Amino acid sequence: MTTSEHPTTLCTALFASEIRAGLSRPGQKTLPSKYLYDALGSTLFEAISLLPEYGLTRADERILSRYSREIVRHVPTPALVSELGSGSGRKTRWILSALCEREPLSYYPIEISRTALESCESELRDIEHVSIVGVEREYLDGLREVAALRPAGAHLLVLFLGSAIGNFDSGADARFLRQVRSFLLPGDSLLLGTDLMKPLDQLLQAYDDPLGVTSAFNLNLLVRINRELGGDFDLRQFEHVAVLNEATGSIEMHIRSKRRQVVMFRHQEFSVTFAEGETIWTESCHKYTHEAIGELAVSSGFRVEAQWTDEEWPFAETLLLAH
Ligand code: AVJ
Repeated sequence: MTTSEHPTTLCTALFASEIRAGLSRPGQKTLPSKYLYDALGSTLFEAISLLPEYGLTRADERILSRYSREIVRHVPTPALVSELGSGSGRKTRWILSALCEREPLSYYPIEISRTALESCESELRDIEHVSIVGVEREYLDGLREVAALRPAGAHLLVLFLGSAIGNFDSGADARFLRQVRSFLLPGDSLLLGTDLMKPLDQLLQAYDDPLGVTSAFNLNLLVRINRELGGDFDLRQFEHVAVLNEATGSIEMHIRSKRRQVVMFRHQEFSVTFAEGETIWTESCHKYTHEAIGELAVSSGFRVEAQWTDEEWPFAETLLLAH
């Protein structure tokens, strides 16, 4: 029910319909992982990136801090840099600083999280010769807008860091990169961060840390649904689960119902029944091999220009060139 107390904005309507679709489908219940990143969720992810068990973000940043000058040497002089999901912007500093030594540039971070966009803007504001224009959109809508701003002859460098590509289901990663490619011109490039496959125990620790930060990050999705859609999820009756799906090579995050229960959504006039032990699949985090990265590049219309990897926490930064 829509009342003046709970005005349903367009965004809430989309959120509500995606949540409803994911929770009422037959079989495995799902929720889109992009909704994990509200203000609290983005902050909890920042905390995850500081956990000793979760080396991904630090590996990504180590490679960028160490090799950014070498990386930008492979990039045709661009006037435009755009980033899909900028997060805090801390990692991006290395690339922007190296690039703007050559010429002034414009940077377009694309983010659905306003919190992340604001912290990215304030984090990077001080870099001279870089003008920052935040784009609060979903990835492809944002990239379409940025590509339309390109002055004739300018090259576009797209950053897709942090292994966010791994959140697509298998096959969807290549489809997504093909769509990215469709906004690019020959000579444009894509810097792609991918987490590499590693031992099971290490992966499970990274996605089910003993301090419980990842659990809080995952369960916060229910907190958000309660707040924004009038849900009555009892957080104590659900638990975080991380499992490796060996068939797909992805770590999956689920939220498991500890008992049979019914959850109501007051503002939406629907309810959902959970069986004991039933899960909601909230995120997949794919772990790549070098071969898979090569195949992904080729099948989406790029060629691999160069690659840098971290030894301490296997992670690859690959520069793909559109041709
Ligand atoms: C931000 C998408 C890279 O997939 O590892 C961290 C999100 N999920 N812990 C990842 C996440 C659980 C993270 N990415």
